[in-house]
Amino acid sequence: MKKTIVEVRHYLARLVLKLCRPTFQSLNEEFRRQRRREHEQVVAGLVAKTGSSRLLGKVAIVTGAATGIGRATAVLFAREGAKVVVADINEGAGQETVQEIVRSGGEAAFVCMDVCHDSDVERMVRTAVERYGKLNVLTNNAGILKYGTVENTPPEDWHRVIDTNLSSVYRCCRHAIPAMTKSGPGAITNIASVQGVAGFQNAAAYAASKGGIIALTRQIARDFAVNSIRVNCICPGVVLTPIFGSVLDSPLNREAMLNEMADHSQLGTYGLPEDIAYAALYLASDESAFVTGAALVVDGGLTSQAH
Ligand SMILES: NC(=O)c1ccc[n+]([C@@H]2O[C@H](COP(=O)([O-])OP(=O)(O)OC[C@H]3O[C@@H](n4cnc5c(N)ncnc54)[C@H](O)[C@@H]3O)[C@@H](O)[C@H]2O)c1
Repeated sequence: MKKTIVEVRHYLARLVLKLCRPTFQSLNEEFRRQRRREHEQVVAGLVAKTGSSRLLGKVAIVTGAATGIGRATAVLFAREGAKVVVADINEGAGQETVQEIVRSGGEAAFVCMDVCHDSDVERMVRTAVERYGKLNVLTNNAGILKYGTVENTPPEDWHRVIDTNLSSVYRCCRHAIPAMTKSGPGAITNIASVQGVAGFQNAAAYAASKGGIIALTRQIARDFAVNSIRVNCICPGVVLTPIFGSVLDSPLNREAMLNEMADHSQLGTYGLPEDIAYAALYLASDESAFVTGAALVVDGGLTSQAH
């Protein structure tokens, strides 16, 4: 009898939690954004007072900076004093990122490019050097997600994902490293994923590309430490961005998706683009001068838990 009462209590508690979850999530999201806005106001005040900021004097390229994590990273880098090359295949949204930076007093230039085209990548690096005189920071963030097992992923999807997510890192580093070597200490950060370190379902090409990024990061770190270039990657968990496509457009799907995203974390919530941008800022700045070859997991505890 006692056991039944306890079970009923647990059931009711779980039910209440489930019913309240959408409200909790939107409050939680708003609360975190508000905290961040307050923090940013404090930082802006400090910067105005001291004239210092974490990327002052640096020139940075962020690929895939038109939306999501890339946009948040480009905006944050510019606010911390970097001159930023916003590189993306999406011209309209890329220009919006630049406008957002310029509106808040930062400096940025847009390069419309495809990370799958070597000549575009070469032009992106050249633009940074010609316009701003050097290159110190490269954040390889552009990426796409396609679902499918190895059985039902068509070869064109497989190649597209590997080319956009993984080979692009090779291409961008290949062109950027000579410019970074000439510019003094450099920092490259590649955006991998928790899907590169743990097994999930139905994203074979994506997981392979992200696992490849982690291995390639270590390799480049070893090869170019001698050039004073540090190379690290970030493994984000589930972050609310347009990468999830039209699923987020319908309110019903959006709620189901947000619940599922929240399930993928110990903290009971999904990540925001800024959560990853702050990790990218640390790895781009001199604060991480002793960090290279690392894979920094930013996933709300997702990969640390045993199911
Ligand atoms: N959102 C997540 O949950 C999550 C989790 C782990 C890793 N990531 C990774 O974070 C990175 C950013 O993704 P996001 O979630 O911000 O998604 P997003 O779709 O908002 O951003 C991706 C950006 O890359 C650009 N892009 C795509 N193909 C390109 C190409 N060929 N050339 C140039 N630009 C191109 C897009 O236009 C877009 O601006 C990706 O590498 C993604 O795999 C995201």
